[in-house]
Amino acid sequence: SSPLRLGIAGLGTVGIGVVKIVQKHADLLARRTGRPVSITAICARDRLKNRDADLSSYRWEDDPLAVATADDVDVFVELVGGDTGIARDSIEAALRSGKDVVTANKALLAVHGQALAELAEGLGRTLRFEAAVAGGIPVIKAMTESLAGNEIRRVMGVMNGTCNYILTRMDSAGLPYDAVFEEARQLGYLEADPTLDVGGIDAGHKLAILSAIAFGTQVNFDAVEIEGIERVSIDDIRRAADMGYRIKLLGVAQMTPRGLEQRMSPCLVPADSPLGQLMGGTNMVVVEGDSVGQIVLRGAGAGEGPTASAVLSDIVEIARGVRLPVFGQPAATLKAAQPARTAVP
Ligand code: NAP
Ligand code: HSE
Repeated sequence: SSPLRLGIAGLGTVGIGVVKIVQKHADLLARRTGRPVSITAICARDRLKNRDADLSSYRWEDDPLAVATADDVDVFVELVGGDTGIARDSIEAALRSGKDVVTANKALLAVHGQALAELAEGLGRTLRFEAAVAGGIPVIKAMTESLAGNEIRRVMGVMNGTCNYILTRMDSAGLPYDAVFEEARQLGYLEADPTLDVGGIDAGHKLAILSAIAFGTQVNFDAVEIEGIERVSIDDIRRAADMGYRIKLLGVAQMTPRGLEQRMSPCLVPADSPLGQLMGGTNMVVVEGDSVGQIVLRGAGAGEGPTASAVLSDIVEIARGVRLPVFGQPAATLKAAQPARTAVP
């Protein structure tokens, strides 16, 4: 059958990871989807950069819009990043050109997810984003597919690996926040704007996306109450440890009688619990459904291989001809939820 032709915009950590999997697993992907999966067009800012992959057989474009609208592209894979500008413009252009879209862009989806979902579904296309939340952990598919027979009661978890790394190092090495922050910077863990990580914003984006799927509500990032980890001190961590607790940047989303509660803040968790045992850059998402009970998903929340693995799961889904609603139910049926404010300072 006809190949599924990919156009990839963004050849950084995730984009190159996707190229490598498509190259390494060409046979596997063809067997699993019943058709070849190929790359036709690619795009990044700097054509001359050494990217640790053979890109010679793909057409280079300087502009993501050219990839998004190319006649020889079936699926536009947006891995540029950023919550406005070219990422949003190119996704919209791709959808309007009759293409399906795969992205890892949680910042964009948390702010413009509703509009993009309505656009995609209105045009009979799909927009998939497994990599946007918790990297390699298949939490979007777990919630939209495997747990579709459940009313979701609560979603919670550790969704930013950088913050978990910083808190873990403060705890295990007894180092102050500033020293570990600098260590994380040198290891290349921090986003270009580190406030997104340590300010809890990146994790808040992810929680807003999960809430929409869990509760059938429109994505509302503005209603997420956020406190980052910048004010967590080594004394806080020591006092918590003395009482048998660890401090984690924990996201919790649940429907309450007052409305939808979405909170991302440093919390005490028992040191011997699965969340308390979560070390380094690992993520953990806990989903509670009325029939299934509690599901715990744990794994790498970032990095080339894990994030590209999640992008491929979306590409495979599209290659198989599956066209699911973007947030698990038609975007037009998602309701605006009353935010239930809590007491995050
Ligand atoms: P990255 O390493 O910074 O790569 C970004 C890529 O986009 C680069 O190749 C860059 O080109 C290209 N680019 C930027 N602006 C462009 C423009 N105006 N036109 C064309 N190309 C442009 O980013 P990343 O870590 O791969 O992240 C990509 C997306 O995945 C983001 O939405 C991010 O939030 C998401 N994500 C990342 C991870 C992770 O572990 N890294 C995990 C989950 C989700 P140059 O290379 O030429 O500079
Ligand atoms: N900065 C993010 C993190 C990358 O540390 O989890 C993955 O979304």
